[in-house]
Amino acid sequence: MLSAQPLKVLVTGANGLLGQKLVAKLQTRSAVTLIATGKGPNRNPGPAEYLYIDLDLLDIAATTEVVRTHRPDVVIHGAAMTQVDACEQQPELCRQLNVDVVKTLADSCRAINARFIHVSTDFIFDGESGPYDERAAPAPLSVYGQSKLDAELLIQQTEGLRWAIVRTVLVYGVVPDMSRSNIVLWVKAQLEAGKEIRVVNDQVRSPTLAEDLAEGIISILMREKTGIWHISGAEIMNVWEIAQQTALFFGLDTGLMIPVSSDTLSQPAKRPPRTGFIILKAETELNYRPFSFKQGLALVKQQLDDLT
Ligand SMILES: NC(=O)c1ccc[n+]([C@@H]2O[C@H](COP(=O)([O-])OP(=O)(O)OC[C@H]3O[C@@H](n4cnc5c(N)ncnc54)[C@H](OP(=O)(O)O)[C@@H]3O)[C@@H](O)[C@H]2O)c1
Repeated sequence: MLSAQPLKVLVTGANGLLGQKLVAKLQTRSAVTLIATGKGPNRNPGPAEYLYIDLDLLDIAATTEVVRTHRPDVVIHGAAMTQVDACEQQPELCRQLNVDVVKTLADSCRAINARFIHVSTDFIFDGESGPYDERAAPAPLSVYGQSKLDAELLIQQTEGLRWAIVRTVLVYGVVPDMSRSNIVLWVKAQLEAGKEIRVVNDQVRSPTLAEDLAEGIISILMREKTGIWHISGAEIMNVWEIAQQTALFFGLDTGLMIPVSSDTLSQPAKRPPRTGFIILKAETELNYRPFSFKQGLALVKQQLDDLT
């Protein structure tokens, strides 16, 4: 009997937090042939038993050519300009990375009839009435949120494109050589260094372990699901509580933590106060079962121990 051809999956942003988790999980699957793309050299650990392509997505011709040449069955778009304040300060670059790049990829996928799985954010909502399900009305407060919403809309309006949009919330985890931190690593590093930290107590999120996000996306990939999906942790928590639990888990001094309201931080980009996701659709249709926040912390600790 002939075995089915492996699915050819191209991942963008392969050096990022989500990207590295996707690479780690997809490269071990016999049903998948992986093509990982990232800007600059491959920062994933271990020998690469997959094709890695150094690809700056801002290079439209190169991006189009990579998709046209390698003809993936599915593109998972994990790359983005993810720093919310940098987006506010450089709206043009944010638009190029978070909207124009998505248009290039969506058009390239449509041209070869590849599926397109895009990653989006809770920051498309205004945070007045979270937690949100997939049908809630978006109303972004920031340049970043607007760019991610514009990308969602252009995907949905690309005629003939087979797409899935996976929205997520406050992702945490650890991978080698990260270009940006996250709440858990930030709290841990600052308190370990004996530094005081100011933590907002008026923002609510559902913190998401990077592994869970990758698993949710892989479920959507393998089950050939389309449409919008909310993939996050199951617990709706105040950011202050997230930081407290992190400090306590790692045995650090919570006395160094100062609760503050968001407006005292004078950050360039406005954050939605209360988001978090209702993940019932993913639980029901994908059998998605995320780690609890405490389990997630334990996994991060184990991975940090393995890295040292
Ligand atoms: N992290 C969160 O809390 C969060 C929350 C909601 C939604 N999301 C969404 O989740 C997705 C994955 O985010 P993440 O947490 O994995 O972020 P990340 O670690 O910042 O990864 C983003 C990746 O995009 C890459 N990239 C940036 N510009 C590029 C370019 N011109 N060409 C090629 N690659 C480029 C970055 O490369 P370098 O590593 O070389 O800089 C980085 O590896 C994004 O769509 C983000 O909007 C994240």
